[in-house]
Order: sequence, then C-alpha cells, then structure tokens
Amino acid sequence: MAHFSNANFNAKNYADARPTYVPKIYDVISDFHKGGKDAVVDVGCGPGMGTDGLLDLGFKEVYAVDPSEVMIKQGMARPRGDAVKWMVGSGENLTQKLPSKVDLLTSFEAAHWMDHDRTWQECYDVLNPGGTVAHVMYGHIHLLGNDEASKLVLDLAFNKLKAYFQPQHHIAYNLMDDISPPEWATRVERHKFLAHENCIMKRDTTLSALAAHVLSWSPMDKYQQDHPGSTIVPDFLENVKRAYNAKDLDHPITMAWSMAVFLVSK
Ligand SMILES: C[S@@+](CC[C@H](N)C(=O)[O-])C[C@H]1O[C@@H](n2cnc3c(N)ncnc32)[C@H](O)[C@@H]1O
Repeated sequence: MAHFSNANFNAKNYADARPTYVPKIYDVISDFHKGGKDAVVDVGCGPGMGTDGLLDLGFKEVYAVDPSEVMIKQGMARPRGDAVKWMVGSGENLTQKLPSKVDLLTSFEAAHWMDHDRTWQECYDVLNPGGTVAHVMYGHIHLLGNDEASKLVLDLAFNKLKAYFQPQHHIAYNLMDDISPPEWATRVERHKFLAHENCIMKRDTTLSALAAHVLSWSPMDKYQQDHPGSTIVPDFLENVKRAYNAKDLDHPITMAWSMAVFLVSK
C-alpha cells in the first residue's frame, strides 16, 4: 500500500508542489485514441493533477479514482472539482467502482503502484471496444543548468532516503520500461520526452518550490514521521543553496522532468 493512503499524508502540500501536465501530453493521448468519447477515468488521480486536463478533451463523463481518501478530498476542492465524479478505488477494483464502461483510462504518475496482472484485466473489462489505456509517468527532477544541484537531488533520493524508496519508485524512474503491455493489446506506443533532449515538461520557479517538491515525496513524508525533528530537508537545501551560490530560497531555478506516455488500445 502506498504511503499516500495514510490519513496523515499532506495531500494539500502534494497538490501545491507537484506539476500539472503540459498540453502536449494530452495531444499525444488524443492522437492515439480512436475510440468513443462517452467516458474517461483517471486512475490513481491523487488530487487531480492529471484529471484537470481530461476535462478539455470532450468526454461526456470524467471519473477519477484513487485509494487515498485524503487525495480524493483534496481533488474535490480543485476549482474544477465539481465537473469530475470522484471515487475511492484502485486499478485492481475498477469494475466494482465504475458506474459504466469507459473509452479512455488514464493514469498520471500512478501506474508504478498498480498490480498489472490484475489491473490489465480490469482495464480490459471496463474499456469499450477501441478504448485506450494511457499511462503517463515522469522521473526524478533535473535542475537545468546546475549539474551539482541535480546530483544533490539524486543523493537525497537514492542515498539519504534509500531505505524508504520502494521497488515501485524504480518503475517510475525507469519511465515504465518494466511494465509490459497486455496480451489483448491491438496497438501499443511508447513516447519519451527526456529532460536533456526533447524536454516538454519544465518549470521556471524558485528553490522554495524545490523544497515543497521534495517534501511531497511519499518516502520523505514517511521518513519525517519516523524521524521527528530531522534536519534532512534543511541540510539538503543548504547544500543546494551553496551549489547555486544563492542567498535564500527565492533564488530562481528551472526544474525539468523526463516523461513517458505508454499507450495501449483494446
Ligand atoms: C504520485 S501520486 C500521483 C497523483 C496524481 N495522479 C499526479 O499526477 O500527481 C500516486 C497516486 O497513486 C495512488 N495509488 C496507489 N496505489 C494505487 C493503485 N493500486 N491503484 C490506483 N492508484 C493507486 C496513490 O494513492 C496516489 O494518489
């Protein structure tokens, strides 16, 4: 079970800190999708970072499913939250939760948490013929123009928090290469947009946003609960400030992510 389902998980910080998804991602999905447009479900929706963009694709119904009640509550509070039907559920029990079949099933930064032997079967059962599964994933943060600071992010994730990262996180960092398509797939596409090559997802921001981002990691949330009073984040930020020669957390930075879109048609 992912730590996001813990009742104490700070879903508001998550919603404020994590990126939403650029139009190009929805274009890639729309270009691939040849099925109907009655309903779309976003699985592992969290507080709706990817769900928002689905509202503009012309589907009559937009459902959003997540096992975490705190994430769902945060999603309902989004400015366009009323346009979405929110449900507590998971990739493994969609047939029990959804009121109808769907034409498009998406996940944003969530496919690594699913048990795919079970979820692919659920996808097959809930999709209309010609329907699409679109899994979207981003990897770790790159700090463009500052390799030393980028290395500090990796050191924080892979060394300092090593005991708190789960095998599923590596599926995300490998941009879903470890997830195989189901036997029933009639078409499969994988698209990659890499931070240092053909980057499509970057954000000009400040060191404060980097601080919020690392605090939104589920391993960091769990680490802080286990180590009250820990200085892991302030220590990290001091080192990053040094790498930027920055006076404070208002210092400008550019965060970028490598992204993958994994598309399967029924
Ligand atoms: C990193 S968050 C992604 C949230 C949001 N989609 C986004 O793009 O930021 C991963 C989400 O997957 C959910 N999750 C965990 N296990 C799941 C499962 N088996 N099926 C569906 N969602 C799951 C978690 O509760 C969490 O909200």
